[in-house]
Amino acid sequence: MSAKTIAIGNDHTAVAMKQEIKDHLAKKGIEVLDVGTNGTGSFQYPVSAYRVARLVADGKADGGVLICGTGIGMSLAANKVHGIRACACSEPYSARLTKQHNNANIICFGARVIGPEMAKMIVDAWLEAEYEGGRHQARVDMITEIEQTQALQAADET
Ligand code: RB5
Repeated sequence: MSAKTIAIGNDHTAVAMKQEIKDHLAKKGIEVLDVGTNGTGSFQYPVSAYRVARLVADGKADGGVLICGTGIGMSLAANKVHGIRACACSEPYSARLTKQHNNANIICFGARVIGPEMAKMIVDAWLEAEYEGGRHQARVDMITEIEQTQALQAADET
């Protein structure tokens, strides 16, 4: 992926790691949209997850990075936004595959799980990989169909 703009968000567990990733992305010439938090007070991770997911889903960012304690809460929240495929990864192999096979548009990880150097390797693996399409497209389309079915069910219930 030749990303020009990446949105990034975090909770209180990941302020320092977020800054390291921002610096890492900036060195690559990537514009970074930081949705916060930059405070150390307890911060509800779904807020950052939603902000980043909206920027990606609306085409205002080419991809997103979300960091909380584990990366899991962020991925759960971001995946509620239609069009988002957010994956929590703790190593670069999964990060690469989640772009190649799942076309993940947001990568998540945990500041309480991995260190900053592993985090950079994960971001690089995800950024540098290309979605392969082909046999994976029908599967990614099925994920999108689940979103659409849910929307139709919600419409039926009103
Ligand atoms: C915060 O304590 C923690 O729950 C949060 O950072 C994240 O790990 C949730 O998934």
